[in-house]
Amino acid sequence: MFNKICIIGAGLIGGSIARAAREQGLCNHIVAFGRKKGIKNLQAAKQLGVVDAFYFDIALAVKDADCIVICTPVGVIEQVFRQLKPFWNDQAIYTDAGSTKGSVIAAAQAVFGEVPANFVPAHPIAGAESSGVEASRADLFSNKRIILTPVDSTCSEAVNKITEFWQKIGSIVSVMNVKHHDAVLAATSHLPHILAFSLVDLLGQKDEEEEIFKYAAGGFKDFTRIASSDPTMWLDICMANKNEIVPLIQQLKAELGKVEHMLVNEESQQLFETFTYARQARQRFLNQFNNSMSQSITFNVQPGGCLRGKIRVPGDKSMSHRSIMLGSLAEGVTHVKGFLNAEDALATLAAFRAMGVNIEGPLNGEVTIHGVGKHGLKEPKEPLYLGNSGTSMRLLSGLLAGQTFNTVLTGDASLSSRPMKRVTAPLASMGADIKTEADGTAPLHITGTGKLKAIDYIMPMASAQVKSCLLLAGMYAEGETTVVEPAPTRDHTERMLNGFSYPVQRDGDKASINSEGKLTASDIDVPSDISSAAFFLVGASIAENSDVTLNHVGINPTRTGVIDILRLMGANIEVLNERSVGGEPVADLRVISSQLKGIDIPEELVPLAIDEFPVLFIAAACAKGQTTLTGAKELRVKECDRIQVMADGLQILGVDAQPTEDGMVIQGKPVDSIGGGVVNSHDDHRIAMSFSIAGLRATAPITIQDCQNVNTSFPEFRDLATKLGLKLT
Ligand code: S3P
Repeated sequence: MFNKICIIGAGLIGGSIARAAREQGLCNHIVAFGRKKGIKNLQAAKQLGVVDAFYFDIALAVKDADCIVICTPVGVIEQVFRQLKPFWNDQAIYTDAGSTKGSVIAAAQAVFGEVPANFVPAHPIAGAESSGVEASRADLFSNKRIILTPVDSTCSEAVNKITEFWQKIGSIVSVMNVKHHDAVLAATSHLPHILAFSLVDLLGQKDEEEEIFKYAAGGFKDFTRIASSDPTMWLDICMANKNEIVPLIQQLKAELGKVEHMLVNEESQQLFETFTYARQARQRFLNQFNNSMSQSITFNVQPGGCLRGKIRVPGDKSMSHRSIMLGSLAEGVTHVKGFLNAEDALATLAAFRAMGVNIEGPLNGEVTIHGVGKHGLKEPKEPLYLGNSGTSMRLLSGLLAGQTFNTVLTGDASLSSRPMKRVTAPLASMGADIKTEADGTAPLHITGTGKLKAIDYIMPMASAQVKSCLLLAGMYAEGETTVVEPAPTRDHTERMLNGFSYPVQRDGDKASINSEGKLTASDIDVPSDISSAAFFLVGASIAENSDVTLNHVGINPTRTGVIDILRLMGANIEVLNERSVGGEPVADLRVISSQLKGIDIPEELVPLAIDEFPVLFIAAACAKGQTTLTGAKELRVKECDRIQVMADGLQILGVDAQPTEDGMVIQGKPVDSIGGGVVNSHDDHRIAMSFSIAGLRATAPITIQDCQNVNTSFPEFRDLATKLGLKLT
């Protein structure tokens, strides 16, 4: 791209640009210019091979250079422009890496009158706490954002060339106006640095007896990490951008004042709402911006081993969602035990808090809901962010369509690509006003008209979410709403409504409801989730020498397809101590290893095991002979396309798994069933956990990428699985 690049200021940033340009073959020759004072750094740059030569004479440094990159602190850029001016070459391209852009533009104007057309102001958003050329790295900018802030006089060819340069280094280039750049960076970078420096300064002065820092925990370290940055550089940046930073400091002071007031006056609900809003907003940003701020979790599983022991897996996800929804609409106080403390259920809980319901907990699985009655919800101030949770979004769409206020429902990238027409279409025929994206996906903009009318609806697919959505809408509709399902699906909504004394009629494949009932608070004991237990039902079946007991598992007949399918495959599963808890059947499940055999999975069992197919595919890979699944098209629209993603992962692990339109054909092998390799979970919790279980029968380690969403349904998975014997880190 260039013949000779001249770096002015070869420190961490300048050195990293030089290294990256060299590694990508973007120039033939790289030199540095610096002051005599910086000789040690320049010598190191040469010795490390970061630059080919260095000069203290700017005329020699820029001679024949076709690209000049200014990487000095922003405070000295005006001086650099003055040095460059006599040798300015209109054929070369000049750019910089300053963190503030208004000050750089002002410096150029002061020296040249108008910003030269061949100068492209740029800011790479990357750095490290260490400084100097020794800390430079060729990959410092890979996948990092570079913001270009051209002005009216900047020539577009120069902008294009600098864009291409950064893209070849592997960076993501955006173009922004100067003022906007400085405002955004003041809020997202400069203010946080000032806060970190100030907090450590404050506590440092208090810490004369070394008492505070001795007890400083992870939060303090995380929060103040950036206070280890170079003070000279930050002084420079803060002074250069003070016009944007000072108003933000004033806003922050006002915010702290509000928090102080809440504490002094013991306004705990307001304080809780402030914290909850902040937590949710952070989560929303993390998800929206492609996880660029969030931590990615990778599971590594060593091959082999067995599972042994007794455990209780966390509470049922479907029932946890419904307990919050119905408890909130009930009259009186509902106590919930066994609540699933995981992201999906917490998304529902946060949504109801945002609609004015006072909910305490969860603490040790206990939640107390102070119900507001069927008509007591309040309009939320913000869109309701539902994360990854399809159940929250689909059930809430029905419930909220019946309110007299407006709501917006949003979710993460996966939820925002899942089909919502299956609920919005029948709701529209009830008179609901819900706007979706053009392809029928979220965000959902719901206008609460308060005027729904009942429908008779024959569901085109077997979906408990669609059924439940329409029953909840039916509680607010004029007349009798009837839903007919093509095959039995989980019936927790109907059971729990009855538990809250709200009449729902069941007649074969039909469920009917009207608006005449009211919900009376009732205590709920949520059993363990059979969908979470399923990982160990399969794991203990396929791993020789295993013996696992799973306590207090919900065995509602609309959920036990996984037990039926595994038994048809020859699994040894005992159902012990059957009992009824709060209207739901519960039992302890004991599973002992056995040699499984391949089967044709009966289609009528598909809706009853709909969430368990990822792990059942692992069972099939270890079974003797062929397993065929049909009639399971719904798997293609779960948290990811579970047919394709499981087939891809199984093939990487050497399993003969052929996806079909509505299922999969797997050739199982009783010996050396599964190989090792790296698979991607596509952010789907159940895919991540299923491939972890595969490790029990693998011949080499399995690495599973992007497992952070295991937290949506089963945050304790790693702890419980390793306790039983899975070699998972
Ligand atoms: C659920 C219903 C099922 C299931 C989901 C939870 C529920 O979805 O896959 O995990 O709680 O109602 P569908 O209704 O889309 O089958």
